[in-house]
Amino acid sequence: MERHLLQEVQIPGQKALNGWGTLPFVLAPAEGRIVTGKELVDWIKQEKSWIEEQLLKSGAILFRGCDVNNAEDFNSVVEAFDYEERLYTGGLGQRSHVVGRIYTANEAPAHVYIPFHHEMAQLPTSPSKVFFFCDIEPTKGGETPLLWSNSVFRRVQQECGDFLQQLEEKGLIYQFFFGNEDIPDSYIFRSWKSVYKVKEKAELEAKIAQSGGLIKLEWIEGHGAKIMIGPVPAVKWDKKREQNVFFNYLVMTYTTDYEVLSKDKEAAAFDNVVFGDGSPVPKEQVLTCQRIMAEEKVEFKWRRGDVILIDNVAVQHSKNPCFSSRRILSSLIA
Ligand code: FE2
Repeated sequence: MERHLLQEVQIPGQKALNGWGTLPFVLAPAEGRIVTGKELVDWIKQEKSWIEEQLLKSGAILFRGCDVNNAEDFNSVVEAFDYEERLYTGGLGQRSHVVGRIYTANEAPAHVYIPFHHEMAQLPTSPSKVFFFCDIEPTKGGETPLLWSNSVFRRVQQECGDFLQQLEEKGLIYQFFFGNEDIPDSYIFRSWKSVYKVKEKAELEAKIAQSGGLIKLEWIEGHGAKIMIGPVPAVKWDKKREQNVFFNYLVMTYTTDYEVLSKDKEAAAFDNVVFGDGSPVPKEQVLTCQRIMAEEKVEFKWRRGDVILIDNVAVQHSKNPCFSSRRILSSLIA
C-alpha cells in the first residue's frame, strides 16, 4: 500500500499552533486520486501510529475528500482505529443510535448555539477522543469550531490569574435538575430516566452509587432528581503534551438555559455550577473565559464526507447556529 495515500492539505480557517501543529491537521487524497472508504480503512489500520503522532501535535485530524458516504462507512472508519467505545450515559444532550458505534450529534434545533466544551467534562471521567462525520453539509453556519484548550488556560491565567487559581484549588461542582418526564422537543433531555437510561429510582441510585461518592443524588418529591457532581477538577494536566488544559463545563453550564417543565421551575432553581467549596462563581470571570474562547477559536466549513478525530483532552468543540439543513454524526472513545 502507498505510504502517502493521503497527504496534508491546507484549508481556510485552520490555525498554526504556537510550538505545535496546525489545528486541525487536514489529510486529503493526493491530487486527482480517488480514495474509497475501504482504502481509507486499510490505510488507517496501517498508519495508525503515524496518525496518532499528528493527533498529538495538532489535537484534531480532519480526513477530507475520501469516499465516506454514510453512517455505515463512518462506522468502518471509526472501527479501523480499534479504540474502545465510550457510551453517552450521563451526557446532557439528546442523541440517537444510528448504526454500530455511531450516534447523532446533539439533536439541538439547528439555530441553537452550543458553547465550547470538552465532551462530558462535567463527569468524573470523560471520553479521550471524539469523532464527527458530516453527513449533510451545512451551507449557512453550523460549523463545529475547535479550540486549543491550553491557549484558554494561558489567557485566563494572564487576564484573571486569581480566578484561575481558585478554579485550580477548589474545582467545580455541577448541579443539575432532571425532571421525572422528558420535555418534548427539548435538546437537553431533562428526565433522569433518559439521561441515565434507567426506568426506576432504585436503578438510578445504584448507578450513582458506582461513582464512589463523587456524584450525589437527592430526590425532590413530586418533581425529579437533583444531581450534584464534584468537586471535579476545572483544570487538567494533559500528560501526553505536558501542559495544562482548561478542562471543565463552566462556560457551557453557566451560559446554557436549561429547560424544565413549568411545574418543576421552583424545584430546579439553584446555581448550575459553583466552586468546589459551594461558593458562587463570579459572572464577570465566566464572561471573560467566554470571550477568550471566542478569540482563540478555529472555525472551518464542513464538507460532506468529512471525518474529524478530536483529542478530547487537548481540544474543545462547540456548534454554531445553523440556518440550513445539517446532519453531523458522532462516536465517542473511552
Ligand atoms: Fe459536544
